[in-house]
Amino acid sequence: MTQGHRDKLEAVCAEFSELLSEAVTEESVRALAAKYLSKKGPLSEVMKSMKDLSGDERKSVGQAFNKAKGQIDTEVAAKLQSFAEEKRKAYLNRWIDVTVPGRQQATGALHLLTQVQKECVDIFRGLGFGMATGPQIETDFHSFEALAIPKNHPARDMQDTFYLGDEMVLRPHTSPVQIRTMQSQEPPIAIIAPGVVYRRDDDPTHSPMFMQIEGLWVDKVVRFSDLKGVLWHFVNTFFGKSLEIRFRPSYFPFVEPGAEVDMQCSFCDGAGCGVCKGTGWVEIGGAGMVDPAVFANVNVDSEAWTGFAFGMGIERMAMLKYGVNDIKYYYEGDLRFLRQFS
Ligand code: DAH
Repeated sequence: MTQGHRDKLEAVCAEFSELLSEAVTEESVRALAAKYLSKKGPLSEVMKSMKDLSGDERKSVGQAFNKAKGQIDTEVAAKLQSFAEEKRKAYLNRWIDVTVPGRQQATGALHLLTQVQKECVDIFRGLGFGMATGPQIETDFHSFEALAIPKNHPARDMQDTFYLGDEMVLRPHTSPVQIRTMQSQEPPIAIIAPGVVYRRDDDPTHSPMFMQIEGLWVDKVVRFSDLKGVLWHFVNTFFGKSLEIRFRPSYFPFVEPGAEVDMQCSFCDGAGCGVCKGTGWVEIGGAGMVDPAVFANVNVDSEAWTGFAFGMGIERMAMLKYGVNDIKYYYEGDLRFLRQFS
């Protein structure tokens, strides 16, 4: 009887060895071991009939069982060890081409326009102007009405606006931020408001989306000469050299008097070149004294307060400082262009 048990145990072990030799993955080895050693596995199956044996017989079969289990454990460990060994060898023998160039890690950088915007803001901040922002989807009121540009006013033609229904627009300039600021803050006010604006324009010098920077100073005594002084300081600091500015009388509904602001061409220092079309001057924006009608629209007493406002194009400032001759370069996302400014 006991011999029968021992034979069976040996047969199970032999069967296990056979299957183990065919296993080629670690998972299949573990699965096979789990199956043979489990409580319902073939080894335990043999032991079920042990209860019919005498004490001595049981002892000897028990030893045979433990031996069989031990054998399976040992074989499994050896097999797993051989897999590990194979892996290690493969790793040590792997072929490394030390001449392959390493992987380049690209370093990100601020977009040129973001850099220029920041440069501009920092200069005005240095003069005491604070940052202000407003929404890009703006009301007709903030974009036009409050700035003394009523519906049907010819000045609305100056901006080819994207309308989003009757009352909302994609703001065509940053001037609405003036209105929002005066609605929410009591004077004195000194703010600089950079931001994205939209117009129905598309050619080498115009993009349907571009950036402006708006300035507003409202105080007891703000003079036209303060406006000129502030813009002069800005131009000289931004370009890092001495350049004159000049005002040409112009019309913007929300300022009176209004002016177009020119600066001496930064390319030829005013001598005349292709960029300034030989004139020595380039236009950089619009400016003027806040019109009393605008003050009235935001409940600021124009007898007590005075102010100036200006607006400039950021792409234009970037073009003049860095020589970018087509506005599309800013928005194409071509890394060969962008990397020159990182
Ligand atoms: N908003 C004007 C535009 O986009 C620019 C401008 C002109 C802004 C005169 C001003 C200003 O603040 O006083 O064309």
